Amino acid sequence: MLDFSTIIPHERRPIFLVDAQIYRLYPELFSDNPCIRISAEENRKSWDTAGGIIADLVEIGADRDAFLIGVGGGMVTDLCGFVASVFKRGVEFAFVPTTLLAMVDASVGGKNGVNWGIYKNVVGTFTQPTKIVRDLEFLRTLPEREFYSGLAEMLKVFMLFDEASYHRTVRMFAGRPDPQLVLEREWTAFAELVERAVALKEKVVREDEREKDMRRLLNFGHTVGHALEMLEARGTWSHGEAVACGIAVILKLSTRYGLSEGVLEGLLSDLRSLGYATEFRTRVDRLMVAIRHDKKKFAMDQVRVVFLRDLGWPCIEEISLKQMEEMLYDLH
Ligand SMILES: NC(=O)c1ccc[n+]([C@@H]2O[C@H](COP(=O)([O-])OP(=O)(O)OC[C@H]3O[C@@H](n4cnc5c(N)ncnc54)[C@H](O)[C@@H]3O)[C@@H](O)[C@H]2O)c1
Repeated sequence: MLDFSTIIPHERRPIFLVDAQIYRLYPELFSDNPCIRISAEENRKSWDTAGGIIADLVEIGADRDAFLIGVGGGMVTDLCGFVASVFKRGVEFAFVPTTLLAMVDASVGGKNGVNWGIYKNVVGTFTQPTKIVRDLEFLRTLPEREFYSGLAEMLKVFMLFDEASYHRTVRMFAGRPDPQLVLEREWTAFAELVERAVALKEKVVREDEREKDMRRLLNFGHTVGHALEMLEARGTWSHGEAVACGIAVILKLSTRYGLSEGVLEGLLSDLRSLGYATEFRTRVDRLMVAIRHDKKKFAMDQVRVVFLRDLGWPCIEEISLKQMEEMLYDLH
């Protein structure tokens, strides 16, 4: 498995920020260096946890030569990037993403941060890691539900920019097989899809790191998805499950912006065959409270929403919150 010595720059002091579960599963990886363990629950991606990590760094005697290595899912990479960008006015850091979601999405693009109460990613910075090392071997221990959570983000990027990879991914996972069986059978083909998803996100980020234009497209399904992540089933949906349903909702609304009924039915049927919910139960008025707080709101009563005119053909529309609410009521 991974050899961390290849990641650590010369004359830097490595300090690991590790998902506690990864530490339990792969203890041999962390025997030689200081290691701060983080329990990966979304409500712990907080200001307090970041403060606790900073207290640990001070205790360890970390200085500006510290090199933080975040090993874990998006929860750990978001926290690691944030702490590294503020500790001692910024120290270098690297990511070793261990979930599919972190490999294709959370580790790419330099956004990091913590939640504020129930509101996601309210505090954060844009800071790029020195290095990202993706080792798909970590996926061998990833629970099925987490795997499919990450797959939703891969599908999102393919729906937006790469129709062929979208269809390949759907074919590979239709019927929601055990991901380990698919990995066994189609390791190379799957690795290519992961690389492709990363390359597509990297390209968008290169063109628009600060989310002024192109990068906004990556929010496809997220305005509704984030609201569902907070509220649906008392907040028990994973990020990817909520995003998949958010995408389904936006696809249904996309028929008003040119998506044909035929393509819509095909895409919804794909999502269902991969085991994602395409309906939600949360009351629309409650969803709207969450959407009003979402960061994609850009004026007092307006939101920017990404719709799909066809596979590989997204568009951004500025609509009023009132319009959004009416459209959601129409669906419910
Ligand atoms: N910065 C960004 O651009 C960005 C993009 C997307 C998502 N995110 C953030 O990412 C977070 C979600 O990340 P996530 O889905 O990776 O979840 P996570 O980090 O919470 O990990 C999910 C679960 O998988 C476990 N786990 C991790 N790797 C494992 C492995 N290899 N084997 C077994 N178990 C493993 C963890 O312990 C945890 O229980 C959210 O906070 C979201 O806001 C950030």
